[in-house]
Amino acid sequence: MSFDLVLFGGTGDLAWRKLMPALFQSFRHGTLPPGGRIIGVGRDDLSDDQYRELIQARFDAVEGAKRPSPEEFKAFASLLYFLRMDLSQPPDYARLAAMLNARNAESVVMYLATAPALFTNVVEQVAAAGLNGPRTRMVLEKPLGHDLASNRAINQAVAKVLDENQVFRIDHYLGKPSVQNLFAMRFGNALFEPIWRREYIANIQITIAEDLGVEKRGAFYDQTGAMRDMVQNHALQLVCAIAMEPPINSHADAIRDEKLKVLRSLKRWNEETLGLHTVRGQYVAGTAYGERVPGYLDEPGVDPDSRTETFVALRTEVENWRWAGVPFYIRTGKRLSSRDARIEVNFKPTPHAIYQTPTGAFNKLVINLQPRDGLELHLMAQAQGSRKRAGSAQQLAPVQLDLDFDKRFGTERVGAYERLLLDVLDGRLNLFVRSDEQEAAWRWVEPILDFWKQDPRPPRPYAAGTWGPSASSAMIARDAFYWSEEA
Ligand code: BG6
Repeated sequence: MSFDLVLFGGTGDLAWRKLMPALFQSFRHGTLPPGGRIIGVGRDDLSDDQYRELIQARFDAVEGAKRPSPEEFKAFASLLYFLRMDLSQPPDYARLAAMLNARNAESVVMYLATAPALFTNVVEQVAAAGLNGPRTRMVLEKPLGHDLASNRAINQAVAKVLDENQVFRIDHYLGKPSVQNLFAMRFGNALFEPIWRREYIANIQITIAEDLGVEKRGAFYDQTGAMRDMVQNHALQLVCAIAMEPPINSHADAIRDEKLKVLRSLKRWNEETLGLHTVRGQYVAGTAYGERVPGYLDEPGVDPDSRTETFVALRTEVENWRWAGVPFYIRTGKRLSSRDARIEVNFKPTPHAIYQTPTGAFNKLVINLQPRDGLELHLMAQAQGSRKRAGSAQQLAPVQLDLDFDKRFGTERVGAYERLLLDVLDGRLNLFVRSDEQEAAWRWVEPILDFWKQDPRPPRPYAAGTWGPSASSAMIARDAFYWSEEA
């Protein structure tokens, strides 16, 4: 099927880091539908060839197997075009329309990877130029708005000119192979379903830790913060994937209906829970990779008096029959100890102990999202047969069943952006977020942001290279649980 993919923000960070590499990989592996054009849109005055050279320079900096050979790049470059546009100028949309109409591809994908403040205007202008017909699909990158009101305004502007099934709100965590496998594990096997509930599960912990700081995105990040950047979208989508009921089928709306119910069931905040169950932090100078790294306030583009959070930990509950009373802990942050994203499902202990069991990490299922992805089931085993353990007959030891997806399915698997871009080109909405889901997530997040705004206390400092402020451990310890690295 022929397509035109228009990349608004075609010279932006996301295009360089994620979108172009993803498009190249799917081109290389023959999964990108043939007959496509990729049209980067930006304000710079670039010819098609200059745009191709810029992309080539980025690709040349890539190490290893992902780097294209000159022949491969030449073939890929023939799909690439550049259109200079000032997104506030209607005549520029007319030029875009002329370019697209001259070819009349079967589908036109508009990917909005620009600042969200421009979204409403772009959507309106695209429609004014007559580019909102049935062959159009619009991809909206996060963050979609800054709060509930701005999110709604964008969704309403979009709904005026496009059907909901033409809108692909991207959350790249849903494209991660382990998240797909979480759905497969839960809904493709009967094994876990009976124990996937409050009677057997003590708590759920979701950790999305990054070791990097804000890098070159200080100015953007300072207006955003970890709550808007990671919790409102990625972390809450992971909560949905864990907590949702089995959908009635695998169609997009059946899945999204169930996720929406989870978001609506998240425990509402009150003054006590806001103070006790949310922690915000900000990194100060510390050591990462054995080197001193600056604190957040010294990062380029960041206001030296900024109160933006680079770390969040919180506790919530999903208030329904399956989950009532089970704490869901979420934590995410920049400049943490390692790059590590995982979900841990901690099961309740045996009701009556006949063995001596060490305390610590066992009796749990870990869904590793990165850097490795796979499943680990931590169990107790009798280590009696082992010479090392002779003499400790009644002592159990933790062991682990390990399904490493890279080893099992090969490392050359489809990355999140690649997968999601192919889904857009195929018109598959399963892994995209519906407007009502997004609004429900904002509705839940907003009171926390409001609370922090009026809170006279600044975010809690934590040294770069650690696991965040100690208040995060105190928060979970109040329930007599601990984060796994503290076991
Ligand atoms: C993005 C955030 O959505 O996700 C970034 O804006 C963050 O701040 C990134 O670094 C993390 O993605 P991943 O796939 O590297 O975990």
